[in-house]
Amino acid sequence: MDFDFAELPEKDRYRLLCSFVGPRPIALVTTIDEHGCNNAAPMSFFNVFSHEPPLLILGMQTRPNGTAKDTVSNIRRSGEFVVHMVDMAIAKEMIVTGINFPSDVDEIEFAGLTSVPSVKLAAPRIEEAPCAMECRVSQILDYGRRTIVIGEVVQMYVRDECLDERGHYVRPEVYQPIARLHADNYIVADNQFVLKRPVELLHHEEAAGYGVPKPVKVPG
Ligand SMILES: Cc1cc2nc3c(=O)[nH]c(=O)nc-3n(C[C@H](O)[C@H](O)[C@H](O)COP(=O)(O)O)c2cc1C
Repeated sequence: MDFDFAELPEKDRYRLLCSFVGPRPIALVTTIDEHGCNNAAPMSFFNVFSHEPPLLILGMQTRPNGTAKDTVSNIRRSGEFVVHMVDMAIAKEMIVTGINFPSDVDEIEFAGLTSVPSVKLAAPRIEEAPCAMECRVSQILDYGRRTIVIGEVVQMYVRDECLDERGHYVRPEVYQPIARLHADNYIVADNQFVLKRPVELLHHEEAAGYGVPKPVKVPG
């Protein structure tokens, strides 16, 4: 089957793109409103796009009635947000935060999660999440009813057990995020495998003279 996106109705584009571009990681995003009320919502139009500078991107659309989601309003006003990754331990709570509650509802509390202070931002961190990235807004791009937020990570928390003793490498048997597939289907990263580039082909890179990647320096 072939689909011409110039002809395809919006809902069919959504269905196709979201069904085939996946699994998509889930950002559980916390923000704070002008009255100090915490907000949390999951976003799967999300990923990391750079480490230098360290950039995360969120894609958000208006509610069916055309109003901005609280996450977008809070990010525009405060210029900051915190992204948490989601594992099985908080999957059910994450889904609850995805309900369109009125703005004065603290979804963190409603879902039974715990807010703790962030290091650099006013928006809170969710204690039960395996990791959290504090972000300041770098750019906001508006495409009609869609808003794309580019955030720069200024601080990151990782639960100790998710990393090895030196804090360098993730422990795949401990850190197993969930991701969104189509509709209400999700997947958990509990069946990981190692796939290395064939060493007998690496001389092509050397011959091309593209340079050897610099090792990433991790403190500690
Ligand atoms: C797993 C999951 C992923 C979602 N991803 C997005 C997304 O990428 N963009 C978006 O606008 N809404 C997304 N939603 C819907 C929002 O989370 C939902 O509209 C939420 O109520 C917004 O809350 P807020 O008004 O507090 O920001 C997603 C929902 C779920 C359950």
